[in-house]
Amino acid sequence: MLFDPLTLRGLTIRNRVWLPPMCQYSVTARDGCATDWHLVHYGARATEGFGLLVIEATGVVPEGRITVQDLGLWDDSQIDGLAKVARFCQTYGAAVAIQLAHSGRKGSTWPDQPTASAGVQPIDAGGYQPVGPTDTAFPGLAAPRALTTEEVAAIPAAFADAARRADAAGIDVVEIHAAHGYLLHQFYSPLTNTRGDCYGGDFTGRTRLAREVVAAVRAVWPESKPLFVRVSATEWVEDGWSVDDTVELARAFKDLGADFIDVSSGGNLVAPIPLGPGYQVAFAERVRQEAGLPVSAVGLITDPRQADQILRTGQADAVMIGREALRNPGWPEQAAATLGAPSPMAGPYRRGALPRK
Ligand SMILES: Cc1cc2nc3c(=O)[nH]c(=O)nc-3n(C[C@H](O)[C@H](O)[C@H](O)COP(=O)(O)O)c2cc1C
Repeated sequence: MLFDPLTLRGLTIRNRVWLPPMCQYSVTARDGCATDWHLVHYGARATEGFGLLVIEATGVVPEGRITVQDLGLWDDSQIDGLAKVARFCQTYGAAVAIQLAHSGRKGSTWPDQPTASAGVQPIDAGGYQPVGPTDTAFPGLAAPRALTTEEVAAIPAAFADAARRADAAGIDVVEIHAAHGYLLHQFYSPLTNTRGDCYGGDFTGRTRLAREVVAAVRAVWPESKPLFVRVSATEWVEDGWSVDDTVELARAFKDLGADFIDVSSGGNLVAPIPLGPGYQVAFAERVRQEAGLPVSAVGLITDPRQADQILRTGQADAVMIGREALRNPGWPEQAAATLGAPSPMAGPYRRGALPRK
C-alpha cells in the first residue's frame, strides 16, 4: 500500500511516502530565490525515492515570509530557481508540490537555525513589520499591524499570482498553507480573529479569507493539476478551532475545487500537545471520512509498518515523513525493504539497495 501509486487529477504520484513542507531558511541572499541548498535538499529526497516532495512554506508577499531567508514567489525572478529544483526532482520520478504561505503575525522571526534567537528580528536589524487579523501578538513575538479590509481582500490575488508562477516553474501541486497559526489559520480561529468586518465574526466570516484563497488559486491553477490545503485540525484548547470545524471547512474547500487535505494541528497558540507516534492520524481519518476528500497524515510517523497500516486501515491516503527524512533521507528504501516492495531509489543508487526477503 505504501508503495502503491496515487492519481489525483492528471498527476500520478509514484508512491505514498511524501516529504512534508519543512522551512530551510536558507535563502541567504534574502531575495526569495531557491539556491543550491534547495536543489541538494529536495534532489536528495527525490533520488532516494520519496513520491511527492512538498517544497517548504514560500511567501506570496515579502511580509508573508516567516523569516527573511524564506523562499518567495511574489516576483517572476523567483521562478527559475524553483524550476531547476522541480526539473531535477521530476527527472528522478518524484512529483513536486510547493506550499504557498503568508505568515501573518508570525512573520519576521530570526532565520539562523538552530541558533536563532527567540523573538523577532527588528526592522532596524533587517526584519520587517508583520501583519495580522488584529494587532494582538503571538506570545513572544512583535505586535502585528492589523490588516484593513481592503488589504485582506487583496491577499487571494497574491496567492493566485504565486500559483501562476509555480505553474511557470513546472511545479505539479500547489498546497495552500492554512495551518500552524499562520495568516489563514489566524483568520479562521475564533481565538485570534476578533475582527468586526466581513472577514471576522461567525464561521463564515472567519473562514472567508481561506475560502477566497482556495477559489482564487483554483481559478488560475491548471485543471490537470491537484490543489492541496494544509489545515490545523485542532488548536488543542477549549473553545478554539475544532475538528468539527475542520470537517466543515474541508467540505467547503472540496466544493471550491480543492483535491486533497494535508491534516496537521496546532501552532496558533501556546498549548500542550499530547505528542506520540501518529498523534494526528485520527484527525486525518475524520476529515477523510466526513469530508470525503483524500488526506495525508503527518506527525511522528517513523515506522514503516505503522505507516503502511495507516493506509491499509483507511485512515489516510498518504503519509508524510518529516524530521525522520532530515535524519534519514534513505527512509523510503528502508521502508520498501521492510515491506518487500521494489527499491524506490534512482538507478545509480540501486546497487546499494537492501536485500529483500
Ligand atoms: C525544520 C522544520 C520546518 C518546518 N517547516 C514547515 C513548513 O514550512 N510548513 C509547514 O506546514 N510545516 C512545517 N513544519 C512541520 C512539518 O511539515 C511536519 O508537519 C512536522 O515536522 C511533523 O512531522 P514529523 O513528526 O514527521 O517531523 C516544519 C517542521 C520542521 C521540523
